[in-house]
Amino acid sequence: MEVRQAYNHISKDYDAHRNRSPYFKIIEGLTRRCFLENTEGRSFEFGLDAGCGTGRNLPMFLEKCRKVQGLDYTPAMLEKAAAVFKSAPNVDLMIGDLRDLPFQDASFDLTASFKALPHVPNISQALRELARVTKPGGVVFAEFYSPWSFRRLLTRMPHFTDWRTVDEAVQLMEEAGLKVKKVYGLRTFMVTEYLCYLPGGYRFFNYLENRFTHSFLNRFSGYYVVVGEKP
Ligand SMILES: C[S@@+](CC[C@H](N)C(=O)[O-])C[C@H]1O[C@@H](n2cnc3c(N)ncnc32)[C@H](O)[C@@H]1O
Repeated sequence: MEVRQAYNHISKDYDAHRNRSPYFKIIEGLTRRCFLENTEGRSFEFGLDAGCGTGRNLPMFLEKCRKVQGLDYTPAMLEKAAAVFKSAPNVDLMIGDLRDLPFQDASFDLTASFKALPHVPNISQALRELARVTKPGGVVFAEFYSPWSFRRLLTRMPHFTDWRTVDEAVQLMEEAGLKVKKVYGLRTFMVTEYLCYLPGGYRFFNYLENRFTHSFLNRFSGYYVVVGEKP
């Protein structure tokens, strides 16, 4: 299924599902932890959330950036973001493609793509674009999906086109001209979302996921965020 078609459909329940799910509370908590740990003590002028979807990560960007640009490929996802951020003077939203970012070189101090790169057929090009639009000294967050995860083994979702091992992702980041600083594993133990609904499930998995996000086990995480810096 074409990615836009898939997300036009997914957009209807995207936020409602995430807002009620303990599984997504853990995933988004880890994403936030990764973001804040790697921007600690710094503030930024311009941030880019490439593949921003409904804008769930934009509040986190606004804690650190004076102005934030959200960009997404799917109009229906972006409409949801627009409904929330339409009157925010420091948020700009636009339709666009990660493979051909409509910005000049070195436009942003902080650049991120959470949960969007696995949909991009040419992930190397998307990473080169993220690196290109980032200023020297800027921080880049890039999230990948692992081919070794249970998610990959159990599900075949046609709108996911790119699965990378940690080593491959690190190599791709370096080839794009970025210096890799850290890797955060997400969904290392939560084999399925339903486990988090069991009594005590949220606390148990939240502890495990946070405790081992930096361990060698993140090679088996469903997702992982690679944190890079533009030299
Ligand atoms: C799982 S959602 C993630 C949204 C948001 N980053 C989040 O964490 O909630 C994936 C998003 O990637 C977007 N996307 C897929 N391919 C893209 C591309 N080539 N360029 C920009 N966005 C893309 C989709 O439209 C979708 O909104």
